[in-house]
Parts: sequence; C-alpha cells; structure tokens
Amino acid sequence: MHGMQSNTAKDEVCAQALGERLRQKTALIGVIGLGYVGLPICIAAGESGSKVLGFDVDPTKPEALARGESYLKHIPDERIAPLIASGQLTATTDFNRLSEPDALLICVPTPLTAHLDPDLSFIPKVMMFDLYAPNLAFRLR
Ligand SMILES: NC(=O)c1ccc[n+]([C@@H]2O[C@H](COP(=O)([O-])OP(=O)(O)OC[C@H]3O[C@@H](n4cnc5c(N)ncnc54)[C@H](O)[C@@H]3O)[C@@H](O)[C@H]2O)c1
Repeated sequence: MHGMQSNTAKDEVCAQALGERLRQKTALIGVIGLGYVGLPICIAAGESGSKVLGFDVDPTKPEALARGESYLKHIPDERIAPLIASGQLTATTDFNRLSEPDALLICVPTPLTAHLDPDLSFIPKVMMFDLYAPNLAFRLR
C-alpha cells in the first residue's frame, strides 16, 4: 500500500486512542440494554468517572432513570439520582444516538429456551434492522 496505512495499523492506532480515552475517563461508554446487567454497568462506569449513555427499547427504563429512580429492587435511587443530576449518566430510547459512544456494551437478554439453550435472537436484533430495535450496523460512526 502506497502512502496508506494498512487496516491493521489503523486498527492499532484506534485501539490505542480508545485505550487512552478509557484510561483518562474521557470516553463515552454506551450500554445497550439497561436490565440486571446493563444498569449496574452504567452505575459502575458512571461512579468511576466515565460518562455513560444507556439505550433500551423499553421506554419506562430511561424514563425512570431520568427521574433519578431505580427500577431494580437491590439498587437504591440514591445510586441513580446523583449520576443523572450530574449528567454522568443519560438514558435514551433514541437509537440514532448509537453513533455517540466510543465503546458499546451489549447487555440484551439471552433467555433460556424450553431445551435450556440460550435464545440468542436478541443479539442480531441489536445488530441488524429490526422494527422494534433500530439497529447498530447503520448507526456506528
Ligand atoms: N442477570 C444476571 O444475573 C446475569 C448474569 C450473568 C450473565 N447475564 C447475561 O447478561 C445478559 C443480559 O441479562 P439481564 O439479566 O441484564 O437481562 P434483563 O432482561 O434484565 O435486561 C435486558 C434489557 O435489554 C433490553 N432490550 C431488549 N432488547 C433490546 C434491544 N434490541 N435494544 C436495547 N435494549 C434491549 C430489555 O428491555 C431489558 O431492559 C444476558 O445475556 C444474560 O444471560 C445475566
């Protein structure tokens, strides 16, 4: 390749830049699915000083968080409200905002089927076009 970096070299530069942003807490962390796994991740990242943008298809979750309220019994409102008030944590159903985070963590359900196999169908719904869950693939920057 003449005068162009190979993809591997570019990937390496991007990975280093992301690592630096994560260390400096200047990276915006995106969390897709704000349930039993996603919400505690949002809180942990927010409390450690990173900005977090959470996504969920269920509007009641971003709405509750915007009021500073928890919807998980073991998480008190006091863990949520300060993060919302300071702008450290924001939650939305607007999947057009998927282009904003520097990193995305996917925390959607993988329920067990009748045969006790995990149902992975939620993952492609996040990645590809889906009526109810506008996709990731076309929204990354
Ligand atoms: N809960 C646990 O203790 C636990 C432990 C280990 C691993 N896990 C794994 O973590 C993953 C998440 O589990 P959970 O318990 O947090 O599930 P959950 O059902 O509590 O939360 C999932 C959230 O994802 C949302 N969601 C569904 N489809 C979506 C989409 N397309 N886009 C955005 N949001 C969407 C749902 O509205 C819900 O709020 C699963 O793979 C699970 O197996 C869970």
